[in-house]
Order: sequence, then structure tokens, then C-alpha cells
Amino acid sequence: MVKKNIVLIGFMGTGKTSVGKILARELKRPLIDIDHRIEETEKRKIAAIFEKEGEAYFRAIEKKAVTEAAAREGIVITTGGGVVLDPDNMAALKKNGTVIALMATPETIVQRVKDSAHRPLLKGEDLPGRVNDLLEKRKAQYAQADLKMDTDGQTPHQVAVRILKELSR
Ligand code: S3P
Repeated sequence: MVKKNIVLIGFMGTGKTSVGKILARELKRPLIDIDHRIEETEKRKIAAIFEKEGEAYFRAIEKKAVTEAAAREGIVITTGGGVVLDPDNMAALKKNGTVIALMATPETIVQRVKDSAHRPLLKGEDLPGRVNDLLEKRKAQYAQADLKMDTDGQTPHQVAVRILKELSR
């Protein structure tokens, strides 16, 4: 029997990577983290890729990594927040998988990402403004997920437990 992939999408700081690790462990499934895969292939950090090559280059290699991961089955896939910008990515991930969007309010996101230096799109002045703008531009895409999970005030473990419950229905 084909086992559908479990795919986590969502804005930066919604906990995709942490929740994905727990899901993969609990379900005994391989985990592919797209950003991690990109850094391995490119042998450099995401921030360095953005800085040296620009966002368009990053999106192209991100698409390649998504296409490869989405073609597998029975795995957990965690994505970067901008994966949803390309409709081909969403279509590929949905074809073989249950796509789950992790959601959080802008205020929660700002709290969670304010001390992280590795996110090129959030660098610079006015973090709340940037978060709001990007969220606004992407919310319709996140809404296309098969399942949406609020994460405000919850630990990654609590979110993972709720996802496992939903998946076993
Ligand atoms: C991005 C999110 C990041 C990473 C890159 C771009 C985005 O991943 O892919 O910095 O466009 O939202 P996380 O969502 O894991 O921070």
C-alpha cells in the first residue's frame, strides 16, 4: 500500500522543523527537511545562498529539492516558509502527501523569530512589519493545505500529538 507523505508547510517560526522531527520519530518514517537538503547540496548556509546568488536562485534549487522529496512515499517532509510561492511545489507535495499548515499569529511569529539571525527575509528594520507583509502575501497559499493547525501557546510536542490524532481519524 502506498503510504502518503506527511508534509509540513507554514510561515517561518511556526515550528515546522521541530514538529516534523517529532512526527518522523513517532511514525518511524524518514524525514526530509528541504532547507537542510539544500544546504547539504550547496555546501553552504541558506543565508549565504541568498546573499551571493539572490532569492530567484534559491527558489530554483528549492523547487528541485521539493520535486525530488515529493516523488518519494511514506516520508515526512518539512519545508521552508516560501515553498508555497510556487504552485508547482504545492501541486507536487499534495499529489503524494497530506499537506499540513502550521499557523501562528503575527505576534507569536515575531516572538519566535526575533533572536534568529539565519533568516535572510527577516533581516533589517521593522520585524513586525516584514512579518505582516509576508504573511499577508502568503496566507492564501497556506490556506490550501489539507489540514491547518494553530500553534500559538503550544509546544512542538503538543502540536505533533494533535497532528497524530488527526491523521489517525
Ligand atoms: C523562507 C523560509 C526559511 C528558508 C528561507 C526562506 C521563506 O525557512 O527557506 O530563509 O521564504 O519563508 P523556515 O520557514 O524554516 O524559516
